[in-house]
Amino acid sequence: MTTYITTPIYYVNAQPHLGHAYTTIVADTYSRFRRLTGDTVRFQTGTDEHGDKIAEAAEKEGCSPREYVDRISAMFRTTWPLLDIAPDNFIRTTDKKHVETVQAILQQVYEKGDIYFDKYTGLYCTGCERFLTEKELVDGTCPDHKTVPDEITEENYFFRMSRYQQELIDHIKSNPDFITPERYKNEVLSFLSEPLEDLCISRPTSRLVWGIPLPFDGNFVTYVWFDALINYLTGLGYPDGEQFESCWNVAEHVIAKDILKPHAIYWPTMILSMGLPLYKKLHVHGYWNVDETKMSKSIGNVIRPVELIEEYGVDSIRYFCLREMSFGLDASFSSDAIVARKNSDLANDLGNLYSRTTAMLVKYTGGVVPEPVSVDDDTVLSDLAEKVLASYYETMSSFQFHRALQVVWELISQANKYIVSNEPWVLVKEEDRLGRLHTVLYNLAETLRLLTLLLQPVMPGICERMAQGLGLGIDSPLIKDFKTNGRWGMLEPGGNLQKIEALFPRTDTKKKQPVKQGAKQNKEKKNKNEQTTENREGVITFDQFQKVDLRVAEIVCAEPVKKSDRLLKLTVKAPEERIIVAGIADYYQPEDLPGLLVLIVANLKPVKLMGVESQGMVLAAKVEENGRSRLVLSSVSGAVPPGSKVA
Ligand code: MSP
Repeated sequence: MTTYITTPIYYVNAQPHLGHAYTTIVADTYSRFRRLTGDTVRFQTGTDEHGDKIAEAAEKEGCSPREYVDRISAMFRTTWPLLDIAPDNFIRTTDKKHVETVQAILQQVYEKGDIYFDKYTGLYCTGCERFLTEKELVDGTCPDHKTVPDEITEENYFFRMSRYQQELIDHIKSNPDFITPERYKNEVLSFLSEPLEDLCISRPTSRLVWGIPLPFDGNFVTYVWFDALINYLTGLGYPDGEQFESCWNVAEHVIAKDILKPHAIYWPTMILSMGLPLYKKLHVHGYWNVDETKMSKSIGNVIRPVELIEEYGVDSIRYFCLREMSFGLDASFSSDAIVARKNSDLANDLGNLYSRTTAMLVKYTGGVVPEPVSVDDDTVLSDLAEKVLASYYETMSSFQFHRALQVVWELISQANKYIVSNEPWVLVKEEDRLGRLHTVLYNLAETLRLLTLLLQPVMPGICERMAQGLGLGIDSPLIKDFKTNGRWGMLEPGGNLQKIEALFPRTDTKKKQPVKQGAKQNKEKKNKNEQTTENREGVITFDQFQKVDLRVAEIVCAEPVKKSDRLLKLTVKAPEERIIVAGIADYYQPEDLPGLLVLIVANLKPVKLMGVESQGMVLAAKVEENGRSRLVLSSVSGAVPPGSKVA
């Protein structure tokens, strides 16, 4: 099978921002997913370099349009590798081959009688680079650019879009997946229920010279959309390139809703006029908003992907984009939302599962994947994995990336619970249960192998490291071939694991205040009476006891404290996240702790221990045995939500 996936070609009047990055991450992820499932893939992106907007931007910068487009186009091209985006082709509309092909197509459509000369008066929006209809305006302004369009009367060339209206309606109706999600298909059909106006496809050179000259009239250049849409063909070497033969009939375009009309109406009617088969699918997504407003250069609220990578790392950004936005709907961007996803989903859930499992394998079996002894009566993970694999395939194929990630996270969460309920650290101490230990460790290693396979399209960088840690080459079919190895039990026992650095270092969240406030209030309320009672034989009143904020907390992460043999730094959820430093390093290994529910005192005045601020205390029993004492952490039986008060 072949996949041909494209992004819009971006205007070079602005540098790449998160909106551009999102669409391109989506197309990259999809192309990696299709490769994983055995397809031959061609993924194309590029830059749109003609038109009013570009000419204006170049003038503002005081340089020639050519110099200007070369500079900004290069910015797009060099940004994509930083986001692990690997297109097979980067097209520019100023490429000679593209210009020639656009002219050949114009000539063909003109000779067919689908282009005619006429006079036209209309409302032109420079931001959109097109005439808007009265109906599209909101309070007399363009809804996207919030500007009043200019009324322009001109003689121009027009494309007979109306001639193909019915054929397009019929095609959309008989191919339900032609435009998805469905709301956008309905929007297009509703637009097509009114008679279509023909499309003005030229600009007089008296007004604009930065465009492709019309082959049949040197006084005009081509309207930028008629030029730009054709990139999807010229990038394949149309009309006689090999790629055109293999790719055109499977073309899938990804766009945001801002350019639905050119892609769902102008483009298909142009293709029909050329006598070619229509593209296969149009995938339409919503906007990234910042403070409820679409992120865009003209509004000035743009987020630069390069800055995000520096702050959070490329894998976290890719994951955040795909997990946070339901494809088709708008989503809100905020740094808090990225940090929450990174710390919770990536560092706590995935990162912990990976580090605990690999650490246990290194410790208990010398890093060798053990032979499972009995698998028949332990199918919790294998059963769920089979369901996850099926659902993942389905949802990734239909662009529901957030759903695909949700189901993968069900497996991660189940595997974390599996560690806690099977307690490998107890099994290892009981000789007659070593077989059981091996089964548990095998199941966890196989889960990690499947996660590496499934998450690769989304986070290729981190998955390379995961594969390396599992002792698998980055090109191993076990993580590169979904068709053969996208099922449970393919990991061969015997492989050698390696210890690798934490996958996702946590990003510090802003310190929460309730602990300090609680302590301060207590101090203010303290009265003499209480102090005397306190001093009397350690007796406290019920009132005093009530002031102690005892809570259930879940340990999400445990790390040694630098330069201390005794202390562990615990990140706990109670329900907000906080750091507690505990003197338990002699009795517990960090990798055994995540997932445990313990009791904490939540309103102790914070103290610094070896440079780390501890925001509370974990309760543990001090057990005296043979003249020595050890600490056993308090625990909670049953599933209690973190943060529950202890009464
Ligand atoms: N040059 C045209 C496209 C021609 S395609 C033949 C164009 N360029 S653009 O630079 O304005 O890019 C628009 C596209 O960028 C959107 O369709 C979308 O893919 C992406 N996005 C730009 N801003 C966005 C958001 N705020 N949110 C989501 N995607 C956004 O239009």
